Amino acid sequence: MDQLHTEILASNDSDLITATNFLANGRLVAFPTETVYGLGADATNNVAVAHVFAAKGRPNFNPLIVHVTDLNAAKKIAVFNQAELQLAKAFWPGPLTLVLPLRSGHNIAPLVSAGLNSVALRVPAHPVARDLLRKYGGPIAAPSANISGQISPTTAAHVIGSLSGKVAAVIDGGPCEVGLESTIVGGAPTALLRPGGLPVESIEKLIGSLRPAGKTITAPGQLTSHYAPWATVRINAVNTSPEEVMLGFGPMESDLNLSIAGNLIEAAANLFGHLHHLDRLRRPIAVAPVPEIGLGHAINDRLKRAAALR
Ligand code: TXA
Ligand code: MG
Repeated sequence: MDQLHTEILASNDSDLITATNFLANGRLVAFPTETVYGLGADATNNVAVAHVFAAKGRPNFNPLIVHVTDLNAAKKIAVFNQAELQLAKAFWPGPLTLVLPLRSGHNIAPLVSAGLNSVALRVPAHPVARDLLRKYGGPIAAPSANISGQISPTTAAHVIGSLSGKVAAVIDGGPCEVGLESTIVGGAPTALLRPGGLPVESIEKLIGSLRPAGKTITAPGQLTSHYAPWATVRINAVNTSPEEVMLGFGPMESDLNLSIAGNLIEAAANLFGHLHHLDRLRRPIAVAPVPEIGLGHAINDRLKRAAALR
């Protein structure tokens, strides 16, 4: 990815407005939360979200956590059951993430939840994160602000060390208080998906024992056929049989094209939407070769899962 100039912003009003302008333009802004610094993008903008994966150098499309101002904003995006509502009321704002079914009519970009019909939501407690969310007025998708495989950043200096030149700005809000990612729960009955900054005991005191992680949706990106569409998928296809539809990449004839220009950011942004669209045709899908560079690794990872026998 091209080197950008990374601005270091403070947490005053005018700097936060600068940050919201970057976000509105599809740029990335790292910001402090009480757990760790987040690498933020407009959660409704697929291309912006593709840039998050590119900046982190993630080899696959792990779904991201969406940050919102409050429970009301969360309810516009997802559907809560009784236990989840109790948890949100007790622990938001704070280091708890809830994985919830997406509400119909939501405007979250498909790449955020890696094509799943659920979404991870959190209301951060850090005053700068809250101020940023209020000023932005929309959901911000943010994984931890570090290159994939490196440790999570708890100061602006950590973020700059890892992502300088890859993000438009870093908001310096001092060191993170919790220093550990949020606890993630989801499903019915509620399961622990990732231990984190909110102790499990606090959750269980309120809603009873959590199901253990592991047997459920813990790490959707790791289940071989989790992302499988209805139709069979054939990868690295150079032509189609009469019954197949072609998902193209680069200049070629196809039914839908991930990126005619051969741009991997654009291809990542289109991936889940295009697969859903072609899947509705109920015909086998042939997919053109996608190069194993940059976001191509994550795109091919997803396509291989879709193509895996099940
Ligand atoms: O403390 C935190 O949670 C930090 C700060 C920035 O808020 N964020 C963070 O995000 O740790 P990230 O992207 O590193 O964690 C995302 C994890 C995924 O790896 C996955 O385990 C879970 O959240 N997740 C997200 N969406 C999911 C979904 N729809 N279903 C199941 N798990 C999901
Ligand atoms: Mg992380």
